[in-house]
Amino acid sequence: MKKALITGMSGFVGHYLKIALELKGYLVYGTCLPGEAYEKFPQYYAMNLLDNAQVISVIKDCQPDEIYHLAGQSSVALSWSKPALTMNINVNGTINLLEAIKEFCPKTKVLIVGSSDEYGPVKKEDCPVNEEHQLNPVSPYGISKMTQEKIAQIYAKAYGLNVLMVRPFNHIGAMQAKGFVVSDFASKVAAIEKGEMEPVVKVGNLHSYRDFTNVEDVVEAYTLLLDKGVSGEVYNVGSGKAVEIQEVLNTLVNMSNKHITVEIDEQLYRPVDVPVVVCDNTKLKQVTGWEPKKDLKNTLLETLNYWRNN
Ligand code: GDD
Repeated sequence: MKKALITGMSGFVGHYLKIALELKGYLVYGTCLPGEAYEKFPQYYAMNLLDNAQVISVIKDCQPDEIYHLAGQSSVALSWSKPALTMNINVNGTINLLEAIKEFCPKTKVLIVGSSDEYGPVKKEDCPVNEEHQLNPVSPYGISKMTQEKIAQIYAKAYGLNVLMVRPFNHIGAMQAKGFVVSDFASKVAAIEKGEMEPVVKVGNLHSYRDFTNVEDVVEAYTLLLDKGVSGEVYNVGSGKAVEIQEVLNTLVNMSNKHITVEIDEQLYRPVDVPVVVCDNTKLKQVTGWEPKKDLKNTLLETLNYWRNN
């Protein structure tokens, strides 16, 4: 039985990836932060990426065939208020992990999760962007993910580690935490329906365009890539279609029978925002045959229903 280790398995994507790998017959282990309730579960190791000794001990003990590196600071919004923390976890944390892999399980296949935020602002006429497009990140988060990716490439080239990199575009679904646009909007609509807040949704920039993919399709791409992808290569993961954030808001508000008004909140604007980004997923499709299965409207409804029930 093949063994997989998911760093950050207690997070949004980790939850779905664990299920997908178990369905494929893997023995799945994961990490959570020390102190999280998950650490009591037998499949979890408590591990802080910044604690080198902990990272070494997990890798030595687990000896996985595959590692999916999801752990990190994943919010673009938070990276503006916590830039040093974002760089530290995403860059130094990944270095600690790669060093441990190099020493204790150099044959393990590793997937490093970057972000479409590495591209930064892209001209409309250059969309969809493929992997060759210049990287020009404009948020601390985007810079941390670009740096993480460059370091992973060095470990693949210099030490021959079996490392693949992905640049996922926006992924959404039930259980995603607040701090990301769909969860922020859906949680507010649900709170209004429950009478927990005034019927006013405060929002930030509604005029950016994002390429949203259901998280289940994203984790399917990850597992296919680790099986069929080429070490040292980078792969975009996204649907190939972008929608304006205004449209996402309208769809969620229209799913409610409450009369909801929308208010722009300057506090929710970012110092710099990426206006538009669309994924060219040709390389992913050619290598794996991947196709997204879940549509945006149903995914928005699933996310809203999650907040209605929680
Ligand atoms: N979070 C949030 N909350 N964003 C809002 C809001 C709000 O209330 N109102 C408008 N927005 C706008 C943001 O300004 C941005 O233009 C867009 O909605 C999407 O914001 P996020 O959902 O925070 O996503 P992101 O594109 O910045 O980053 C996400 O996608 C990356 C891949 O492109 C994150 O999931 C990253 O982890 C991921 O790497």
